[in-house]
Amino acid sequence: MTQDPPSISIAPPKDTAEVNEFVRIVSQALVFPPVDYEDFVRREGRENITATYVGDKVAGGVILQPMGMSLGGRILPLACVRVVGIAPEHRSKGLGHAIMDHVIRDSYKKGFPLSALFPATLPVYRRAGFELAGSRTTYRYAMATIGKLKRTLEIREATNSDRPILEGLYAKRLARSPGNIQRNDWAWERIIDPPSWWPRSYGYIVEQDGHPAGYVYFAQKPGGHITDNTISVVDFSWESAEAGLSLLSMIADHRSMATAFEFCGSPSDPATLLMCESAIQKTTRYDWMLRIVNLKDAIERRGFHPNTVAELHLNIDDPTIQENCGNCIVSVSDGQASFKKGGDGRLTASIRELASLYSGFMSAESLCASGGITGDKESIATASGLFAGPIPWMSDMF
Ligand SMILES: CC(C)(COP(=O)(O)OP(=O)(O)OC[C@H]1O[C@@H](n2cnc3c(N)ncnc32)[C@H](O)[C@@H]1OP(=O)(O)O)[C@@H](O)C(=O)NCCC(=O)NCCS
Repeated sequence: MTQDPPSISIAPPKDTAEVNEFVRIVSQALVFPPVDYEDFVRREGRENITATYVGDKVAGGVILQPMGMSLGGRILPLACVRVVGIAPEHRSKGLGHAIMDHVIRDSYKKGFPLSALFPATLPVYRRAGFELAGSRTTYRYAMATIGKLKRTLEIREATNSDRPILEGLYAKRLARSPGNIQRNDWAWERIIDPPSWWPRSYGYIVEQDGHPAGYVYFAQKPGGHITDNTISVVDFSWESAEAGLSLLSMIADHRSMATAFEFCGSPSDPATLLMCESAIQKTTRYDWMLRIVNLKDAIERRGFHPNTVAELHLNIDDPTIQENCGNCIVSVSDGQASFKKGGDGRLTASIRELASLYSGFMSAESLCASGGITGDKESIATASGLFAGPIPWMSDMF
């Protein structure tokens, strides 16, 4: 007699034992260093954990961190998907698909127009409607490349009570940086007070005319030799060239103990313009994926270039969220868009491919070349112009 296959279900963990089983499984799946379970759950927020069950046993799950994303100078609610993991004995049975399907439906119900993630593999996320839509670029420089910069401004050590100052400075960067994340407590804590299983971070604030003008948080990564260490910037931001140069000069003053420094930034980062030399040792690019969860909200809540006046007729297919499907008209003027159902559907795309266009990561012409969208020449040109802007990026990782 053959047995029925065990049923798959998805729900929040019922008790601490199930939460701990989730942490055990995802720690193995994602090759975490040994984590302190209690601190891990406190940081993540137990309410953000969703488990997958095979029968009545936890088989993996996912964490959703609620944050925001900057697009066109406005911030949209963002469901950040992290820690997707399935126990090895339950893989390749459709659990990964099931959990991602749940994530999208749940995010829609909770009112998130967008969801994002850093993929370790593409197929499972593409099937859920995510597509590559921005990048995180890590620059690695020899310390000598910074050169002898002038430190004209005073720098002081940051303390935990400086968080409002950091948030104020970061908010300015957020507004001008498409793709950057509006951080929640979880994200700020990772920068200022990282978990014990990560290297500790050191924070400094630079002041100009009596006001905070920039900050840096960095970790010190040991190298093979006593002086061969790396200063690894966790986060930095500044509002004037003097502030940026002063922070970089402080980093360069680690040269007796560190031969390299690295930071994450945009593909065309202003920090590269402050360096005396251009010889980057290495850049590593990690592209993140975006999912348009609620098309109407995603269109109406992002910003557009104030000079753009355009109307675009779309025909969208979404296998998961029925409300996103069909013909619609996007009308843009005065830096914002209105969305209504109907029109001629002159540009056809799946919700997945639309994500790459919508964030400004790919032009409509590039998406045509990869077979992602089809349409008449005029609509393709209109779509490219409408969503064009600096390449979306983020320095955070989740
Ligand atoms: C990636 C992972 C979550 C997929 O879960 P799963 O339950 O095995 O996936 P499914 O059976 O639903 O299959 C989903 C897709 O992922 C692919 N896939 C399955 N296991 C995979 C693996 N180990 N690596 C890469 N892709 C995998 C399948 O081929 C399938 O693609 P298809 O739809 O084109 O056929 C799971 O393998 C895992 O936990 N891996 C280790 C941790 C990890 O990489 N997490 C992702 C972090 S972003």
